[in-house]
Amino acid sequence: MIGRLNHVAIVVPDLAAATATYRDTLGARVSDPLDLPAHGVTTVFVELPNTKIELLHPLRADSPVAKFLANNPSGGIHHVCYEVEDILAARDRLKAQGLRVLGDGNPKIGAHDKPVLFLHPKDLFGTLVELEQI
Ligand code: CO
Repeated sequence: MIGRLNHVAIVVPDLAAATATYRDTLGARVSDPLDLPAHGVTTVFVELPNTKIELLHPLRADSPVAKFLANNPSGGIHHVCYEVEDILAARDRLKAQGLRVLGDGNPKIGAHDKPVLFLHPKDLFGTLVELEQI
């Protein structure tokens, strides 16, 4: 059911510095920063030939990633995102198999203007998983 790895998200303490490192040190193509108020984050996407890296920084103090950054001051891998063709069908199938969907269980619009959902990390081996409908 899950398809391609859409991106790996990394929370960073300094978005401009992390963007510069990916662009100048690692030589990758990076996007402009994008604020996502519904998710409480600012994102920069790093384009790789086979996937993307999503650099995440809290947009406000109550951001879901603010606590993560407090616990991981130098940053860290936050989630992986798998593509699905039908997010509601995927959600219903996973819920029927006992996986927990975070939030109110309904997809939100993510960084690529596509519907996304997050699955409870305790149900997937300690990894926060995002599903994105492509
Ligand atoms: Co993501």
